[in-house]
Amino acid sequence: MSNPIIVALDVPSAEQAIALAEKVAPAVGAFKIGSELFTSAGPEIVRSIRATGAAVFLDLKFHDIPNTVAKAVAAATRLDVQMLTIHTGGGPEMMKAAESAAQETAKALGRPAPLVLGVTVLTSMDANELGAVGLPPNPGKQVERLAALAAASGLRGLVCSPLELAALRQTLPAAMQLVTPGIRGPGDVAGDQKRTLSAVEAMAAGASWLVIGRPIYAAIDPRAAAEKILASLR
Ligand code: C5P
Repeated sequence: MSNPIIVALDVPSAEQAIALAEKVAPAVGAFKIGSELFTSAGPEIVRSIRATGAAVFLDLKFHDIPNTVAKAVAAATRLDVQMLTIHTGGGPEMMKAAESAAQETAKALGRPAPLVLGVTVLTSMDANELGAVGLPPNPGKQVERLAALAAASGLRGLVCSPLELAALRQTLPAAMQLVTPGIRGPGDVAGDQKRTLSAVEAMAAGASWLVIGRPIYAAIDPRAAAEKILASLR
């Protein structure tokens, strides 16, 4: 992998996102567009970021019936994103439909299929929250269960917390791509992230890609911050 850093474009406007992307693009591997930016700026922001030559991770966490998710994944594939997310809690049929839609749409367009990443248990869910929605109150077990189900349903990647990496690497097929947020260096402000690893630690624990937001976009010099993290990996 040449550059595993994915910068989260967690900014409210297209102008801010494009300015940030142009500033840091040479030092990063891809940009993540999430619900806030996509809802305010629309699919045009994906085209604008793609036009800079950068790869795009569309993090909209689709969770719906298989037919609807398949159509959303097909639309994201036509937008030419390189990664996108779905909720594994949507079940095996939904995951299979999503992966097929990515493969078939990309094939028809003559380009590589985007990586469909499964989200297991949101890191905001603890034992109490899981119990409240009627699930076994054990986040670790639920993550493992959904991760295994995702692999069995044909997904080629997952989003997971840094502290889930080691356990997942022991049980999942080696080819599974693991994308990890919650990255903080020794001098970084943790913010609302409670369970973090540094970029080096996360890669050593088995991450394929690192999603990094505030340590880069809130830095005084975002490009230098990204370059410093990249240098720490080499
Ligand atoms: O600013 P920070 O580095 O914490 O940004 C991390 C990014 O990863 C944000 O876009 C956040 O929404 C996302 N994320 C996360 N934890 C998860 C899933 C996604 O921090 N469990």
